[in-house]
Amino acid sequence: MPLLLKDRVALVTGGAGRLGRATAEIFLREGAAVILADIDETRVRRVAAELEPSHSGKVAAVSGDQSVAEDAARFVNEAEAALGLPDVLVNAHGIFPNCPMLEVTVEEWDSVFAVNTRGTMLTCQALARRWIEAGVKGSIINISSGAARSGRPGGGHYSGSKAAVEIMTHIFATELGPHGIRVNAVAPGLILDNVMHEESEDAHPYVNMTLRSTPIGRTGSPADIGEAAAFLASDRSEWTTGAILEVTGGTHCGRTHMPLTRQLR
Ligand SMILES: NC(=O)c1ccc[n+]([C@@H]2O[C@H](COP(=O)([O-])OP(=O)(O)OC[C@H]3O[C@@H](n4cnc5c(N)ncnc54)[C@H](O)[C@@H]3O)[C@@H](O)[C@H]2O)c1
Repeated sequence: MPLLLKDRVALVTGGAGRLGRATAEIFLREGAAVILADIDETRVRRVAAELEPSHSGKVAAVSGDQSVAEDAARFVNEAEAALGLPDVLVNAHGIFPNCPMLEVTVEEWDSVFAVNTRGTMLTCQALARRWIEAGVKGSIINISSGAARSGRPGGGHYSGSKAAVEIMTHIFATELGPHGIRVNAVAPGLILDNVMHEESEDAHPYVNMTLRSTPIGRTGSPADIGEAAAFLASDRSEWTTGAILEVTGGTHCGRTHMPLTRQLR
């Protein structure tokens, strides 16, 4: 099979994180060069150093704060200087504190929107401006969350910030489509480093309950999200823009754990 992302250059934010790294690994496997961006300079350089030996000359790392306009613009400039102008952007950075609505402070509320929402807007804006200038028909993939459409206690700021990312994905898609630029989102469900196929006494009851509600019968892995991002980055999705691709094993479909109603009588 031909490589899905041959000769592509991808900027992956949150590149030191779980989903960012898995996405980078899949993109490299599919022939792309990857620039990892993250606020954690030590960790992002370490991840790049770990990936480099198998993909010589195709990995670079940049560091800075995604929520700061100058840093987001610098990510793009440094990426271009290192490996060429990226034609794919994956926004996989994020923070996800948990705090009840009656306790959340203005500072905490604002910081979640600054990183998750403004940070996503800033890299989209910085790279799309360069693409229009250079005539590049790039692809953007914003990592959202199932939480954007499903409330949970303590998730007011997080869910709100991701719901904003999703509507912003639609807006960018409408504004950038005429330039040939596609903008999509992936909304992951529960992702664990060690995929669970069966409920376990050692697991948190919430994890067991989610597993019971997952039609595909396992929790997600970081690679599940990277594979979805690779599809949206590639020409195989060339008529797809403004899509929110839910990658949840089916948990988002509704009350999937419910028995047939005739069994309830
Ligand atoms: N893991 C899941 O189950 C899950 C589910 C749904 C959505 N998501 C979303 O996927 C994305 C990645 O999640 P993850 O599990 O890989 O988390 P993670 O914590 O492993 O990675 C997030 C990365 O973002 C970086 N980051 C945080 N603030 C930053 C800033 N201001 N500037 C630059 N980088 C910054 C962190 O340093 C970290 O490396 C997040 O947006 C998260 O909301 C994750």
